[in-house]
Amino acid sequence: MPYENGLITAATYVEKGGVGKTTTAAHVAVAAHTDHNLDTLLIDLAGTQNDLATQFGLDDEIQDLDAPISAVFGSDWDFIRSNIPDVVDRMVFETDEGPDLIPADPGLGGADNNLANIDVEERYEFLRTFIEEDLGDRYDFVLMDLPGKEDNISLNGLFAAENVVAPLKPGAFEENQLRKLETTLSEINEDLAVNLHLALVFATMVDGRISLHDNFVEDLAAEHPELVGEPIPATAGIGNSQDAGHTLFSFDEDERLNSASRALASYRENTTRLLDNITPR
Ligand SMILES: Nc1ncnc2c1ncn2[C@@H]1O[C@H](COP(=O)(O)OP(=O)(O)OP(=O)(O)O)[C@@H](O)[C@H]1O
Ligand SMILES: [Mg+2]
Repeated sequence: MPYENGLITAATYVEKGGVGKTTTAAHVAVAAHTDHNLDTLLIDLAGTQNDLATQFGLDDEIQDLDAPISAVFGSDWDFIRSNIPDVVDRMVFETDEGPDLIPADPGLGGADNNLANIDVEERYEFLRTFIEEDLGDRYDFVLMDLPGKEDNISLNGLFAAENVVAPLKPGAFEENQLRKLETTLSEINEDLAVNLHLALVFATMVDGRISLHDNFVEDLAAEHPELVGEPIPATAGIGNSQDAGHTLFSFDEDERLNSASRALASYRENTTRLLDNITPR
């Protein structure tokens, strides 16, 4: 349990692009809010594309951020937070699906570089400290969407989250992806004396007509019975809803493709599983 006040934290992380990390973060956050009544905050640390803002139709609102998340990695953050009392309010945007969002910003790249000059004992603690000090009494659940690579920002996210959610896209080399992730996490744990662990893994963008995909789903379940979630089917409904600035939750049953309804049901199921795996109570 990362924080004494019972706040729970997790991050979507796989060292690969385009595997469904952002889609997962969005759907898990809405499920946590809607089905589990958790005050939920998403933090987008996954580069400057601002995919989570797009996912929730907030692209226009997040132009010219006056309180960007990259500030918490800066040397004058303590000064800022003591002199601008509402700085956290100014960072946070409400989505129309329940969770709040702190969007990514263009300063994250520079922040990643600057962190390289900080002593290793402090380098990965910035985000954890921010969440503890500034968010712990506002939210029940903080879910971070991390870059698909190991850099100083994703390490900050992993330190703060401890619980890793890994969506895996079936394919010829994808079994290695999970092994690589497990190796990465145990190396970080050993080198830096932390306790990062997988809290949920599942296959996504699964096409049941492809036997390679079915085998992948079966292997995953056999290898990780206690961590594996329901597979998420491949569905055009996800991209369509994202284009419209929504998750699958925003549509009525009869407006959704069948495959999209199954994807939504699996995301809800997986959120329950995740919360069971990490709930501190
Ligand atoms: N179940 C699904 N079926 C079909 N398409 C999907 C599904 N889940 C996600 N996608 C699509 O796959 C693409 C990649 O998904 P997403 O952006 O969530 O991945 P990511 O791991 O966050 O990528 P990046 O590394 O670029 O941040 C998006 O276009 C998304 O709409
Ligand atoms: Mg992403």
